[in-house]
Amino acid sequence: MIEPPATDRFLRACRREPVDRTPVWFMRQAGRYLPEYRRARGDLDILETCRHPEVVVELTLQPLRRMPLDAAIVFSDIMVPLRAIGLPVRVAPGTGPVLEEPIRSEADVLRLRPLEPEADEPELLEAIRLLRGELSVPLIGFSGAPFTLASYLVEGSPSRDHARTKALLHGAPDVWAGLMERLATLCVAHLRAQVEAGAQAVQLFDSWVGALDPEDYERAVLPYSREVFRGIADLGVPAIHFGVGTGELLSLMARAGGDVIGVDWRVPLDVAWERVGSDRGVQGNLDPAVCLATWEAVREKALGVLRRAGGRPGHVFNLGHGVLPQTSPETLARLVDLVHEATERPSG
Ligand code: CP3
Repeated sequence: MIEPPATDRFLRACRREPVDRTPVWFMRQAGRYLPEYRRARGDLDILETCRHPEVVVELTLQPLRRMPLDAAIVFSDIMVPLRAIGLPVRVAPGTGPVLEEPIRSEADVLRLRPLEPEADEPELLEAIRLLRGELSVPLIGFSGAPFTLASYLVEGSPSRDHARTKALLHGAPDVWAGLMERLATLCVAHLRAQVEAGAQAVQLFDSWVGALDPEDYERAVLPYSREVFRGIADLGVPAIHFGVGTGELLSLMARAGGDVIGVDWRVPLDVAWERVGSDRGVQGNLDPAVCLATWEAVREKALGVLRRAGGRPGHVFNLGHGVLPQTSPETLARLVDLVHEATERPSG
């Protein structure tokens, strides 16, 4: 059967309205698992790639040519706005973001100047405008959340234990507050500009916030993430709030904000939804590693996620984290079809 163009299934689900089929998209749906991505990226540094709007448009569209995804996410990186305000960040292949002079003191924090999106990151906004002319599904803009950005700035490189970040948060609360305040302001400017350029939904990636306990999250992170959601509320676009390893933080994350809370695979979807509250949607939560297994295994686990969603309005199907580079594109395409077929409803 030929599918009708899915123009607003994703946005409807974000607003917890009934949908004809459960919408599906994948974090890192543009990425190294696609051979055409590897060809188009070439040897350019990823942050350099993001400064070429026509390449950004191409990379964003690639997964949509292969599978009927219900949303596109603009190809960018959470470090783009930090580089845009002049910080010497680079993204080391196979490692992640690196900052030669980490931010650890009040003087360092003062190096973070405000982001002026039209002047500092015009290529991103141009890519969004171009994409809106090409897409028949909604376009998602995004930002790293204050904590996750702070963790890269303080550590200077990817970290497993986030020890320096926690040391700053506990040992120099005033420096921490100043840093988080500036990052929250930056996130608001970054997200607002993307929406004004045409993004129809946004996702705040707080990927590493699961490193914190609920008490520290509530004191040292929640106020700043809340500031980000409040700062974009008047724009009226759905906001997704995502983190990894956040089982014990889900209700606090919902309190911080977001119409939809993104959850990883560690908490069953129905349990996560209970923690998040029935007044929010939920996005997730198939383990990306399952996609490396046999189709039968993928199918069974995906149907398990859908069973736990129970057909309630407000579920956006996604992986619990980004697509792994070893994933077969054919598996993901089959997964999109499976989600659509298994959730087909008579009226939308
Ligand atoms: O399709 C999409 O989802 C949009 C593209 C996207 C990228 N980065 C491109 C990218 C998105 C949404 C991001 C966000 C991002 N960047 C996050 C939050 C999401 C998450 O995964 O939790 C984080 C933590 C980063 C920081 C970052 N950038 C890391 C850890 C890496 C991996 C380094 C590596 O080589 O493994 C990057 C680089 C990066 N950003 C890649 C992609 C597709 C992979 C490297 C490449 O293709 O050069």
